[in-house]
Amino acid sequence: MEPIKIDINPRIPPLPKIEDKTKINLRYTLISPYVSAHIYWDPKIGEVIYNLEEPLLTEEEKSFLEILERNLSEMINVDIVIQKTTDAMINYIDKTSRLLITELGMKISNQSYKKIFYYLFRDFIGLNKIEPIIKDYFIEDIECNGVNTPIYVVHRLYRNMRTTVKYKTIEELSNFVEKLAQRTGKYISYASPLLDGSLPDGSRVNATYTKDVSSRGPTFTIRKFTKTPWTPIQLINLKTLCPEMLAFFWILLDYKTNILIAGGTASGKTSLLNAIAFFIPPEARVVSIEDTKELNLSRENWLPSISRSSVGLEKIGEVDLFSLLKSSFRQNPDYVIVGEVRGKEAFVLFQGMASGHSSISTMHADSVNTLIKRLETPPIELSPTLLNTLDCVAIMTHAQVGKQETRKLREIVEIVNVDSKGVTLTNTPFKWDPKDNSFYFNKQSKVFEKISKRYGISIEKLYQEFDKRSKLLYELQKRKIFDFHQTQKIINQYHKSPDSVLRAFGL
Ligand SMILES: Nc1ncnc2c1ncn2[C@@H]1O[C@H](COP(=O)(O)OP(=O)(O)OP(=O)(O)O)[C@@H](O)[C@H]1O
Ligand SMILES: [Mg+2]
Repeated sequence: MEPIKIDINPRIPPLPKIEDKTKINLRYTLISPYVSAHIYWDPKIGEVIYNLEEPLLTEEEKSFLEILERNLSEMINVDIVIQKTTDAMINYIDKTSRLLITELGMKISNQSYKKIFYYLFRDFIGLNKIEPIIKDYFIEDIECNGVNTPIYVVHRLYRNMRTTVKYKTIEELSNFVEKLAQRTGKYISYASPLLDGSLPDGSRVNATYTKDVSSRGPTFTIRKFTKTPWTPIQLINLKTLCPEMLAFFWILLDYKTNILIAGGTASGKTSLLNAIAFFIPPEARVVSIEDTKELNLSRENWLPSISRSSVGLEKIGEVDLFSLLKSSFRQNPDYVIVGEVRGKEAFVLFQGMASGHSSISTMHADSVNTLIKRLETPPIELSPTLLNTLDCVAIMTHAQVGKQETRKLREIVEIVNVDSKGVTLTNTPFKWDPKDNSFYFNKQSKVFEKISKRYGISIEKLYQEFDKRSKLLYELQKRKIFDFHQTQKIINQYHKSPDSVLRAFGL
């Protein structure tokens, strides 16, 4: 018998941008040679459909598969299996299955075995029904709202669509959610029915676990992890922001300012945070704190930590953001990155900022006003003095440009002063204007004035530096330098010897 070949990383096809949804009709391979995605407009329901085309099994093949799955699950310790490389696991399942087939005296043709093997691979090594979707480079989000309702996905290019995948019984879905929990190394049960964790590839998982008959059963959302985060240059290329905005952040991070990134759900806050972190000076000591691991920095001097939720009813083993943050300040970091600020940890963060540690973090809020309101009122309740330590807020937003769904850095707002009554005076050096889809800069940065006073550097000098860095960033985009490590290297090199970098890029 010929050995099984499965390619789980087929070439990423160049997909066309299609403005008119009703014209979408294309197909690409997800798991070669077995599975493709067929994406098309269905006029009957008026939606774009994501159809998984998997091998079809005959009734006989289905019964073979069932027998093999039953026997395999008794033999395999899944915990051990998922420690190995995918190739090693494929080999192992293949060998064990062939052994079983001989032992059980099953008569399966080579052709049938190949098809059956796909399902064994999918269910034992992969994440069952949604494995091909997980493998689809273009999918950002996978969402299941219960049994007997289609799973929805968000596609990088064609956005929201309905899939042909469904969980048909509560049992099937609960089993799957348990599997998700197991893969994240966390625990889910009726007593503690919420799951928030990361899969081994870094994807973020949220799930609920319920048998309540009135509901549609368990639910889950998977936010896929883009293996390497977007670099600052890629964000320019996506037209999410302009080079000047990045040059501005770059200068700010040289002078230890405090930046908050605000915006709605999935507006790109964390992606921007990660991109800005490229500009933290290479020798600075960075500590990051998150609930689930999303940040990915290309630097040595970085101490990442992840909070841990408790197991069971007594809060054993719980390490929340609040306590992590408190202990992180004891490690004397130059920069503290908090993945997302939600509650009482904001107080610790601002106290840390007030005592000279800089920070970058994200927070859910649509505007500076809502953000300040949330920080001023319970449960956070910051004093105006503490609020004044915040230097600027970047607001991310979803935006429709033409028929294209995009993310924009809508504005950068500087906090000029918060008075004793909590009234906030702001200045907005950067703005994106939806009317002409352009970015505007008013050259009146109050934070530059602050830096100038605090460090005794003339404003002119800061603007000169700002211009140089803007030009360099333009040039890097022009030359399509998108690689994660290379980008970090250039930025670090600029830190040591700016002129040589400018010269190297002909500036
Ligand atoms: N600039 C961008 N252009 C296009 N897509 C983006 C951009 N930034 C982020 N995305 C995509 O949007 C999704 C959400 O991004 P991200 O996690 O950064 O947002 P968020 O605001 O932090 O979300 P959350 O509210 O869940 O914390 C991801 O799938 C990401 O790939
Ligand atoms: Mg986020």
